[in-house]
Amino acid sequence: TIASIKARQVWDSRGRPTVEAEVTLASGRSGRSIAPAGASRGKREAIDLRDGGTRLGGLGVNKAIDAVNRLVGPALTGMDAADQRAIDTALIALDGTAQKSTLGGNACVAVSGAVAWAASAELNMPLWQHLQQSFNVSAAGIPAPMIQIFGGGAHAGNRVDVQDFLVICNGATSFAEAAEWTAEIYIAAHAIMKKRGQIAGVCDEGGLWPDFDNNEVALGLTTQAISDAGLRPGTDVSLALDVAASEFWRDGRYHLALENRSLSTGEFIAELERWSNDYPIVSLEDPLGEDDTEGFVAITELLGDRMQIIGDDYLTTSAAQVEKAGHDKACNSVLLKSNQCGTISEVFDASQAARSFGWNTVMSGRSGETEDVTLSHLAVGFGADQIKVGSMTRSERTCKWNEVIRIEERNRSLDYWTFLTP
Ligand code: PGA
Ligand code: ZN
Repeated sequence: TIASIKARQVWDSRGRPTVEAEVTLASGRSGRSIAPAGASRGKREAIDLRDGGTRLGGLGVNKAIDAVNRLVGPALTGMDAADQRAIDTALIALDGTAQKSTLGGNACVAVSGAVAWAASAELNMPLWQHLQQSFNVSAAGIPAPMIQIFGGGAHAGNRVDVQDFLVICNGATSFAEAAEWTAEIYIAAHAIMKKRGQIAGVCDEGGLWPDFDNNEVALGLTTQAISDAGLRPGTDVSLALDVAASEFWRDGRYHLALENRSLSTGEFIAELERWSNDYPIVSLEDPLGEDDTEGFVAITELLGDRMQIIGDDYLTTSAAQVEKAGHDKACNSVLLKSNQCGTISEVFDASQAARSFGWNTVMSGRSGETEDVTLSHLAVGFGADQIKVGSMTRSERTCKWNEVIRIEERNRSLDYWTFLTP
């Protein structure tokens, strides 16, 4: 039984304030969780409630903290922490809006996660297992990591248009092995950039800073880094892109700033097809703008039988959006971000909707992250195919990879989901 809920201000990886919720049960057991924050956000996401004004650049979270301490705490006190669905239903009802603008998606996700951690402590069970049992998931498992080598887009001052150049170790047979291969690739990519005299720090998610003349150079260098690491591009390791196209989609056109080109939907799809023919790409996330449904349908028809077409801003972890896109055949995979919807139960619902269409699911962090590892457990407990949290550097990223490494080592009976296209 929940005895009390308290929220406090803590700090994220961009040095911005965020909400931590702490839930204490009558037994004295407790759980904590911290809200992450996105930079390239979808317009249909749950609202990240900020104070505005001048303090901390308007990013203060006192309103969200107040919402937890004054409204959520009293409403949830006395409820059973093990009943995650009832907790999340109560949060949704208390908020009462479509995008969680009363309490804030940040307040909701921190509370939803903290309750889950408290319940798993009380049940003396790893969080992933509590989540699997609560939501009756038939197959928990170890996700394949999708890891960033170069950053870009809104995470790197728009130095390159594409937001993430990632690798998927499709030939690896365990998470630990995939992490080690990726570390070798990161080291090789660093060496390439050093040789070119282009080492300039890292981006928001820890990937190498993209000092390139165009997007395609990054595709070539990532492929070269795979070879330099002694791995076979396409056979051992493939490429994945988060295009995050909403960021450069204006007036119905795709504006590639670096190349000073503006493309129609058809032209941009042709460009993505060319990249996919010339480089070993197996996954494209948000290849089109968040309202370019025609574009999504066209690219899924064109490339969907040989790669993942993932909706992130396009689907915003919403079961309803996934249902719609499933009927439209506008994607074949979903990115799951807990703060896009605001509760663990809604992440599960979006995941289930995706499964009903035979899609792949990818559990994802945000560009603003913390030491919170809830998402590693969500990925395992909900049986997500992949997990995506940024690069191999910076502890707010590696803490998620490291947690999956521990879960994999302790639970040899869990299957590792080798990468497969949907
Ligand atoms: P964001 O980026 O957290 O800044 O939205 C992550 C992504 O687009 O996948
Ligand atoms: Zn994305």
